[in-house]
This record gives sequence, C-alpha cells and structure tokens, in this order.
Amino acid sequence: MYKILFVCLGNICRSPAADGVMRKLTEQCGVSECFEIDSAGIGSWHTGQLPDRRMRQCGALHGYVFDHRARQVKSLDFECFDYILGMDEDNMFDLRQLKSQYDAGNAHASKAKLLCLADFLRRHPGQKSIPDPYYGSQSDFEFALQLIEDACEGLIDTLSPELP
Ligand code: 4NP
Repeated sequence: MYKILFVCLGNICRSPAADGVMRKLTEQCGVSECFEIDSAGIGSWHTGQLPDRRMRQCGALHGYVFDHRARQVKSLDFECFDYILGMDEDNMFDLRQLKSQYDAGNAHASKAKLLCLADFLRRHPGQKSIPDPYYGSQSDFEFALQLIEDACEGLIDTLSPELP
C-alpha cells in the first residue's frame, strides 16, 4: 500500500487535480487498492472549498471530476503518508520546515518522503515545477493539468515495479 499526499499552496488548483488524476490512473491500471491518495494545502484560506472552477472545467475537458474539499496540511500527515509531493520549490521549502517541526516534537521521526511532483515529468524536459495557475489564464490551468498528467504517469511507472 502506498499512501500519497499531494500538496500545493491553496489546495484548490494543482494538488486536488493531481489527486484526481492519480486516482483515475490507478483505477485504469487496476492498482487502486494499492493506493491511498489525498491532497492538502500549505495555507488554510480555502478550507472546505471545491477546487477552483477553472481547474474543474479543465478537468472536465480531460474526463476528470475534481471534487476534493480543500484542507490544510496537518502534523498527522507526516506520520500517515509514505510520500508527500509538492508542486514547486516554495511548497518543498514549506514542507521541509513542517517535517522538521514534526520531527522536533515527536519521539519518532516522520517516515514520509518529500518529493517534487515535477521530478516525475517525462514529456516536459527542463520543467522544474508545476507552476501556480491561480493568478493566470485558462491556458495556465490547461498547462498545469498537462504537467500533472505527465508527472502522475511518471510517478505510477516509478512505483509500479513494487506493486503486486
Ligand atoms: P494552488 O493555487 O496552490 O494550486 O491551489 C492557489 C490557490 C489559491 C491561492 C494561491 C494559489 N491563493 O492565494 O488564495
């Protein structure tokens, strides 16, 4: 069983999309029972909200239903998840800090591995992050979703040799 948490800043654009894409991919590959997938945000501003309408529209065009309700990353996530994947360097910086805080306050260090989703891209050479589309146009949302699809395929291929 792989427990995977996708994290972005607000948990209404990129990480709920990665959550939805990864769920669909694991179902298509017949390995959904081997995965527990969730997403969360560094910030709490959008707690309880559905993904941004622009990302839901983009998702619908690609055949996804993005219906996650936003939540903030919490201390327990560093205990429960095997992999925590951020979208950009800012997310990775914040996640490293949160993980250090967890480790400082707990008898057992967090076993969660912190990874950047962009490291699993295969069709976008040189792209180092999944850029935040929130203040951008619809084409920025489309680009973010294309990156997320590419990287989630790379992630599942990386993990699949270990799957039953
Ligand atoms: P996300 O995008 O991190 O991909 O969910 C954002 C959503 C909201 C905000 C920033 C980024 N915001 O500043 O409210």
